[in-house]
Amino acid sequence: MNLLVSIKRFYGSSVGKKLLVALSGAALLLFLLGHLVGNLLIYMGREVLNSYAEFLHHSLHGAGVWFARLGLLGAFVVHIVATIHLVQQNKAAREQRYQFESTAKASKASRTMIISGVIILSFVIFHLLHFTILPNDLVDSTTSDHLRPDVYGMVVQGFSNIFLSLFYIVSIAFLSFHLSHGFASVFQTLGLRSKKSTDLIQWAGWGYAGFIFFGNISIPIAILLGFVK
Ligand code: HEM
Repeated sequence: MNLLVSIKRFYGSSVGKKLLVALSGAALLLFLLGHLVGNLLIYMGREVLNSYAEFLHHSLHGAGVWFARLGLLGAFVVHIVATIHLVQQNKAAREQRYQFESTAKASKASRTMIISGVIILSFVIFHLLHFTILPNDLVDSTTSDHLRPDVYGMVVQGFSNIFLSLFYIVSIAFLSFHLSHGFASVFQTLGLRSKKSTDLIQWAGWGYAGFIFFGNISIPIAILLGFVK
């Protein structure tokens, strides 16, 4: 009972919600890095990418991917729900303060984070439908003893469509913008940003977001240009 009250009090405070947004954001930053490094294996060829995908799907007898999915889904839901509640709480506090001022608005940075966040959410839903929920049934028959899904072929086929590739590139641009701001915010919220480290963290955030941007968009571009086929 006491624990429930403490959790309610923690979540009720804006600091509690900010901490949850930062911790779930940090988990998503790590996922994106891992996902990109895995995706870049496409440059090592069909055999390497498909073996990597097969390894992910068979780790811990198939349970590994589900643990990762549950953790990822949890982080995603917490990140979005706590952000919505935080925005509502801030809005209510502002309305109280500016009862006579109808133009009170969220800061530019938080508004652009919300807009880019909504675009990322739509992109992720599309991406899940595209590659995970409704993948095509291409099969890799190059292994000697068994058949396996041809993830390499699926990605090449998907990005051979210029409109789809453009959609990915624009979405990844919004994502990278969101990350460049989010990266520094995580450090600030967790109290890991000092006067001395502010510049370093800002540069690291831009470096991280740049890697996510150029790494991810290189894949549809390489496919469209015929470097990966
Ligand atoms: C060009 C860039 C990308 C490529 C080529 C790519 C490729 C893939 C592929 C092939 C899968 C299915 C893996 C499998 O089932 O074996 C996948 C899953 C996924 N991707 Fe991406 N992805 C890209 C960018 C992104 C971005 C930017 C995000 C997040 C904003 C993202 C989030 C996810 C998620 C959440 C899954 C589901 C993981 C699972 O449950 O299996 N991906 N991606």
